Amino acid sequence: MRHFLYAQFILLFFAGAHAEESSSSTSPAGSDPAVLGEFRQLGVSYCVGVQLIAVPNTDKFLFMERPTTPHPDGKHANAGLMDAVTGTFTNVACKFSMENCGHTYLENGTVAVLAGHKPQSSYPEGRRALQILNVEALTLDSVGQLQFGHWLATATRLPNGMVTIMSDSPSPVGPTRKDAVQNPFYELWDPNNPASTTVVQLDSTFSANTKYFYYPFVFVLPSGDIFTFSNTYGQIIAPLTGKKVVVLPTWKNIPEAKGMNTAYPFSGSAVLLPLRPEDNYQLAEIVIFGGQWSKGWVNTTAVDLSMRLKIKVLENGSYDIGEWQMERMPLPRVSGSAVLLPNGQVLLINGAKRGMLGDAVSGGGAMLNEPNFWPVLYDPMAPEGSRYSTLGRSQIARLLHSTAGLTLNGTVILAGGDRSSRFWSPDTYSPSPSGFPEFRVELFVPPFLYDTDHRPIIVSYPVVIGYEDIITIVYTMPDANATVTSVVLMAPPSDTHGFNMHQRMLVLQIIAEDKDTNHEASVPGSRTVTVRGPLNVNVAPQGPYMLFLVYEKTYGPGKWLSVRDFS
Ligand SMILES: *[C@@H]1O[C@H](CO)[C@@H](O)[C@H](O)[C@H]1NC(C)=O
Ligand SMILES: *[C@@H]1O[C@H](CO)[C@@H](O)[C@H](O)[C@H]1NC(C)=O
Ligand SMILES: *[C@@H]1O[C@H](CO)[C@@H](O)[C@H](O)[C@H]1NC(C)=O
Ligand SMILES: *[C@@H]1O[C@H](CO)[C@@H](O)[C@H](O)[C@H]1NC(C)=O
Ligand SMILES: *[C@@H]1O[C@H](CO)[C@@H](O)[C@H](O)[C@H]1NC(C)=O
Repeated sequence: MRHFLYAQFILLFFAGAHAEESSSSTSPAGSDPAVLGEFRQLGVSYCVGVQLIAVPNTDKFLFMERPTTPHPDGKHANAGLMDAVTGTFTNVACKFSMENCGHTYLENGTVAVLAGHKPQSSYPEGRRALQILNVEALTLDSVGQLQFGHWLATATRLPNGMVTIMSDSPSPVGPTRKDAVQNPFYELWDPNNPASTTVVQLDSTFSANTKYFYYPFVFVLPSGDIFTFSNTYGQIIAPLTGKKVVVLPTWKNIPEAKGMNTAYPFSGSAVLLPLRPEDNYQLAEIVIFGGQWSKGWVNTTAVDLSMRLKIKVLENGSYDIGEWQMERMPLPRVSGSAVLLPNGQVLLINGAKRGMLGDAVSGGGAMLNEPNFWPVLYDPMAPEGSRYSTLGRSQIARLLHSTAGLTLNGTVILAGGDRSSRFWSPDTYSPSPSGFPEFRVELFVPPFLYDTDHRPIIVSYPVVIGYEDIITIVYTMPDANATVTSVVLMAPPSDTHGFNMHQRMLVLQIIAEDKDTNHEASVPGSRTVTVRGPLNVNVAPQGPYMLFLVYEKTYGPGKWLSVRDFS
C-alpha cells in the first residue's frame, strides 16, 4: 500500500510538471532555465512542511505540521526530516501539537522549537512547549515550559544567546482581535537555564498600535537592539528590558500604501538586507514584501507593494532612520516567502494573489485563492524602478502553510501547502495528489546557478571563525581567469507563515585574492581568497552559518561553519 501510494505521488508529480503552460500573460517569454530558473522534484514528505528549519551541518530540514491524514507513509508523525540531497524523509517523534510554533538555533547549532498549537488530533497542548531537536535520536525533547501560551510566535536569538518568544495567544477568530488574548509582553528564554522564562513587558504604546501580533517581523540590529514590527506598526526595542528605544515610521501617510497589513492573517514577508563591510555593518535595511489590505477577504487582490526602510546605527549609539520607500512589485503576493540568496538578491516565491490566511474551522475551505505561481527576484542594489524581475512559473500551488529556504547547494527548497483542493485558480496547475495537504517537495534552481563555469567550489576553509579573524579559503572555479567577487555568510533558514525568523546575510571584507598559484598541490588550479570575519556578536550572533563564494550574480555550493566569540 505504502509503495503504491508513493509511486502514485511521483507519477502525478511528473504529469503535473509537464502540463501545458498557462495562457496567463504573467509568464515571461521563453523556457531557458538560465534566464527563468527551474522547478525540480525533490521528493515526498510524510508530514506537510508548515514549518521548515535547516538542520546545521547536514542537508536536512525539520518539517512540522498541523495533524493531517492520511500521510504518505500511513503513519501520523507531525514532524520529520527532509533530506534536500536524497529527497528522503524520516519521521521525528514529537509529544506536542506543533503547528504555529516558533523556531531558532542555539549558539551550538541545536534547533530549538518554541510554543505551538492548542490540542489537535492526538497531540496535546503545545502552546507552552520548549523543545530542542535531537537529530541522532530523531526526537524533539521537552526542556522546559513557557509561562504563557503563545502561537504564531516569532522566536529570535539575541546576541547574548537568549531567545525572545513574541505573539498573542489564541487564533484571531474574527477580523478584529476581540477574540484574541493580547500578550502585551514577550518571554525571554535562556537555553542554559531552560526550565522556564522571564516575562518582559512591552511598552504600552506597542500593544495599543499593533492590531495583530502574530509572527511579528523581528531582526537583531547591528546595535544589539531589535527591530520589532507587527502589521503596520513597529519599534526598536532593547530586548532584555522591553524598553522602547525608537518608534519606527509608519506608511499611513503614503496614500497608495494606506491599509497595507502585513501580519498574520494578512501575511507579507520581510527580510533584513545583507549587512556589508563598506558600511562597517552599521546600515540595516529592511524590506517588507506584499501582504493584504485591511479590508481583505477571500477574493481581495493582495498587496503588490514592497516597503523599504534604512536604519543607520550612529557612532554615539543613536539611530538615523529614513522613511519607508514604496516600490511596486510585478505581482501581488500574500503568504509568500522571501528568500535571501548569497548574491544579495531576494527571491519572492509561493503564496497567493488573493485572499488571506486561515480556514473555516468547520468544512475547512481555503481563504487564499489564485495561487501566485511566479517567483520574482528583487535586486536591492539595482537602480530604483528596475529592481524586480519575474521568473518562470511553478506547477504546484503553495498557499496556506507553505515554506521555502536556502539549501547548502544554493537552491531553494519549497514545501508545504494546506487546503490544497479548496482554492480557485484561473491558471492551470498540478493538483495535489493527496487532495487537502500538499506533500510534494521541490527545489527551485535560481537562473544564475546555470552559469556553471562561474560556480566557485570551496576546497578548504575554517569550520569555526571568530570576530574579525583573518581567514583564507581555497577554491577552484572552471573559468581559470575569474576570481570570486564576494564572500558571504548566510544564517540558516527557519521559515513559516511567510516569515523566515532567522534569515541574515553578512558580506565579509575581502583582504586579498591570490589568483595564480596552485595552493593545494593535489587540486590543480586552486586559488585563495582571504577575508575578515564579521565585526561582532551584534552584527553576526554566534552560531551556525553557511559560507558561500560568489562570482558576480552566481555562487557555488556552500559549507557549514560556526561563528564563535573567542574574546
Ligand atoms: C546542486 O545544484 C546543481 C545545480 O542545480 C545540481 O546540478 C547538483 O546536482 C546539485 N547537487 C546536489 C548535491 O544537490
Ligand atoms: C546545545 O546547547 C543546549 C543548551 O545549552 C544543550 O541543551 C544541548 O545539549 C547542546 N547540544 C549539543 C549538541 O551540545
Ligand atoms: C470568489 O471568486 C470565485 C471565483 O470567481 C467565486 O466562485 C466565489 O464565489 C467568490 N467568493 C466570494 C466570497 O466572493
Ligand atoms: C548622535 O549623533 C548624531 C549625529 O552626529 C546627532 O544628531 C545626535 O544628536 C547624537 N545623539 C546623541 C544622543 O548624542
Ligand atoms: C584567460 O586569460 C588569458 C590571458 O589574458 C587569455 O589568453 C584566455 O583566453 C582567457 N581564457 C578564457 C577562458 O577567457
